[in-house]
Amino acid sequence: MFIDTHCHLSKKDYNDIDLVIKENIKVSINKMIISGCEIDSVDEAIEMTKKYDIVYATIGYHPDQASIIVDKDINNLENLLKSNEKILGIGEIGLDYHYDGIDKEKQKKLFEIQLKLAEKLDLPVIIHSRDASKDTIDILNKYKVKGIIHCFSGSLETANIYIKMGYKLGIGGVVTFKNSKLPDVIKNISLDNIVLETDSPYLTPDPYRGKINSSKYIPIIAEKISIIKNTTVEEVAKITTINCNDLFDFNR
Ligand code: NI
Repeated sequence: MFIDTHCHLSKKDYNDIDLVIKENIKVSINKMIISGCEIDSVDEAIEMTKKYDIVYATIGYHPDQASIIVDKDINNLENLLKSNEKILGIGEIGLDYHYDGIDKEKQKKLFEIQLKLAEKLDLPVIIHSRDASKDTIDILNKYKVKGIIHCFSGSLETANIYIKMGYKLGIGGVVTFKNSKLPDVIKNISLDNIVLETDSPYLTPDPYRGKINSSKYIPIIAEKISIIKNTTVEEVAKITTINCNDLFDFNR
């Protein structure tokens, strides 16, 4: 049994969501956690959790929404988090310095408002950090929260900093890419610190790169990790599921 800790499931990306869910169940995906991270996708994520047993969600505003989100959206987020038991946490939230154009100060402000909310509601967070490790670490250190560093792709040194802070690293399709440095990082950390994710519909693992991603490819990521760690896929499934159960309360 596998858990996809981070994916996006939207009618704009998939023609037949019933089929996607069926295919996932067939390859032993037992839970998928959708990330609703814009105003529209928050609503759609909640809709999906109501429709499908295996679907859970985290909701929170992505840094690329930093110029759009206003106080009323944050209040709305808080109300939704309090009133839906299948919403497990806040995310993806964080900092993205890869593209110019989104004011860094606005990003930091939105990030911190949502970390405060996570602390207040005692919920885990899903962190999006791109080209922004230092500021992400400095800000996270100010809050007592736990969570996942989504799509981790940093150095071993950065991995160890996050692990020491109590965070799990979300590992996805990037680990299967030819020139990925992730295998070397994973070799040097314990499976106890890893959770599986696809970030579908993006970041499709090899050998399906170029096609639309889906949670059904989670076993490919688990297999790659099992080879790196010289263990079985079953062991990777077991430990990563335990890690998820430590972090998320699936019976909120
Ligand atoms: Ni994502």
